[in-house]
Amino acid sequence: MSRTPFIVANWKMHKTSKEAEEFIQTLSQKGLPAHKRVGIAPPFTALAAAVKAAKGTGIEIGAQTMHDQLEGPFTGEISASMLKLEGATFVILGHSERRQYANETNEQINKKVHLALKEKLHPILCIGETLKERQEGHHLAILTTQLKLCLKGLSSSLASQLTLSYEPIWAIGTGRAATPEMVQEIHAEIRSFLEGEFGVDCAGKVNLLYGGSVKVENSASLLAQTDIDGLLVGGASLDVDTFTRIMTS
Ligand code: PGA
Repeated sequence: MSRTPFIVANWKMHKTSKEAEEFIQTLSQKGLPAHKRVGIAPPFTALAAAVKAAKGTGIEIGAQTMHDQLEGPFTGEISASMLKLEGATFVILGHSERRQYANETNEQINKKVHLALKEKLHPILCIGETLKERQEGHHLAILTTQLKLCLKGLSSSLASQLTLSYEPIWAIGTGRAATPEMVQEIHAEIRSFLEGEFGVDCAGKVNLLYGGSVKVENSASLLAQTDIDGLLVGGASLDVDTFTRIMTS
């Protein structure tokens, strides 16, 4: 089954609306690759400007997180419907920095996955193990638990609309990426988990991204693996020339 590779920039807490606009203009002038989808997740304050700049370019704009309720007294939070209304088409959920700094649990992330799908906001669900968990050989058990809890209650047809991103925590922002072979091995496990839970059709449809110190030097070899269907790029997505090279690799 063919899956269109998806290259996503996660800008984290970087870039103003003006910088987002300039980046998107430059990126679109360079021309998007023919057989890839390209997404950018700017901070909330740059979302509307990014949507406007990306109009007609094919670049998809998404958010880095959202709340698990549609509205209410939740100071500082933002909802799926608000993001949707601003023109976001996808949302990153369960990023390890959200799990670590905002104490997000698998149960909360599960609620967000359900809500995003209900609101027709495409979820990119992140999972990943710590260095200690990998060294102790528990990483597969940890990843399976994250998948089970975060995807709880989904039907096969809803699950097949997801994108998953494997992001080993020890590789994020460290310059120490997982090797293509390591990622392929995990992605094959994730796909067989999906097959067991949701069936072969769903497992064949879900894009599996990798994130963690993706750079120009490793992007092509990562994408060459059978089960790596895209990349979630942090630090290396902030420079338009670097991101362009990754996007076209
Ligand atoms: P990095 O971040 O590319 O800076 O390691 C990846 C991520 O957090 O998605």
